[in-house]
Amino acid sequence: MVDQFQSNIGVIGLGYVGLPTAIGFHDAGFNVWGVDVSERSVEMILRGKNPTGDPDVDDIVPQPGSDRWNITTNTGEAVPNCDVVLVTVPTPITHDLKPDLSYVSAAGRAVFEAIPKGSNTIVVLESTVYPGVTTETWLPIIEELGLVIGEDVEIAYCPERFNPGDPAHGVRQVARVIGCSNPEVGEKLVELYSKLTSEDVRYVGKLEVAEAAKVIENVQRDINIALVNELARIFPALDVDVEDVLSAAATKWNFHRYTPGVGVGGHCIPVDPYYMIQRAADVGVPAGLITAARAVNRSMPSHVAGVVTDLLWSAGVPAGDAKVLLLGWSYKAEVGDPRETPAEPLAATLIGKNISVGAWDPHIDSSLYPESVVPVDDISDAKGYDLVILVTAHKACLEIEWGDLLSKMRTPIVYDGRRVLDLDKLESMGWTTHAVGKPV
Ligand SMILES: NC(=O)c1ccc[n+]([C@@H]2O[C@H](COP(=O)([O-])OP(=O)(O)OC[C@H]3O[C@@H](n4cnc5c(N)ncnc54)[C@H](O)[C@@H]3O)[C@@H](O)[C@H]2O)c1
Repeated sequence: MVDQFQSNIGVIGLGYVGLPTAIGFHDAGFNVWGVDVSERSVEMILRGKNPTGDPDVDDIVPQPGSDRWNITTNTGEAVPNCDVVLVTVPTPITHDLKPDLSYVSAAGRAVFEAIPKGSNTIVVLESTVYPGVTTETWLPIIEELGLVIGEDVEIAYCPERFNPGDPAHGVRQVARVIGCSNPEVGEKLVELYSKLTSEDVRYVGKLEVAEAAKVIENVQRDINIALVNELARIFPALDVDVEDVLSAAATKWNFHRYTPGVGVGGHCIPVDPYYMIQRAADVGVPAGLITAARAVNRSMPSHVAGVVTDLLWSAGVPAGDAKVLLLGWSYKAEVGDPRETPAEPLAATLIGKNISVGAWDPHIDSSLYPESVVPVDDISDAKGYDLVILVTAHKACLEIEWGDLLSKMRTPIVYDGRRVLDLDKLESMGWTTHAVGKPV
């Protein structure tokens, strides 16, 4: 049952996080007001279409005419109708790897300007940030607008943790933590989010605890992945396959297994550690481990480009003449999301070495590739390549007609950048196989 106090929910930013969140609250019986500044996104959602690249959302966008479903580009129209407003806007990094909080600030300002006096509207930031951002970014705006905390507005933080492309960890299945300086508001939000998700929802105290929890979840993943990526460089030099080592080590009860790869991508893992690094720097504490892990993962695409260039050279293909095909462009399997994909620096490094690069990804519109990359729209048209790199473990990439592609290769070399291919089978077909972390 949806109670009176919190039956009207606003969601500001209808992207990978905001759209499924809005749909989740709508499915749970709430009256939803969704806002996005992108006219294209709003127009698509109003037609019942999914503007994001997450296939799990394709069939669940409410259709035109649905009750309790209000979508607009106008924050000022939506907010006065809402008891609780969730903000799910991007938190990218700048070119010099610093947190870009301009979206959090702009969306917050638009929301606070529209809050009716005396409404005590609860505004919850869900975007990933470092500890302190919600208060430091929003309180000055609230004060400037003459709003009073506890009378006109309350602010809280509840990080989104769902995993696009992974239906088992959608918005309705992940545990949530809520930070708020007012415990009463925190408990009200526990009640609210408990109607969205079947998992644990917990009030964890002040905002900064919830903000920090989210960012360290991703820092931990980045560090764990960096360790196996570093091992994937060390062991081949010792003539040992890193996957054999990881399989052996994983027989111990407390060993956590991760898989090396061409690099990490997406909006979270390659971005959030920089938020933590910046915050540590602000308070004068070194974040050496986090910084080193980021450097390892960030350098994986150029490491792989170097290995691949050597393989081409050894196969007698001069760089100026070589053609490499990337299988997959998005940063992770089954999702059409190219943000921070390692495919981009991998392609750029190869092109910088005078190697021609083509790419095929059935989940990505090929207009999103950089101009220097040759789009392959149909894998059966790919011919004359010297080496194929599996970049993204989309099912479609693993299940291509390997025999057909083999017959069209100029030099039949495959490099498994995700350690998911059956290399013995490919060898038996006539491919020369290599993989990240495997001795050459
Ligand atoms: N994508 C993920 O897997 C994931 C998972 C957990 C958390 N997060 C975090 O959630 C946040 C959002 O990420 P995302 O992947 O949904 O980003 P996104 O880019 O897919 O979506 C953000 C949306 O916000 C809109 N927007 C920007 N400014 C706005 C404004 N002022 N008013 C209204 N709309 C505005 C954009 O047009 C866009 O549609 C980020 O902080 C991210 O780190 C992402």
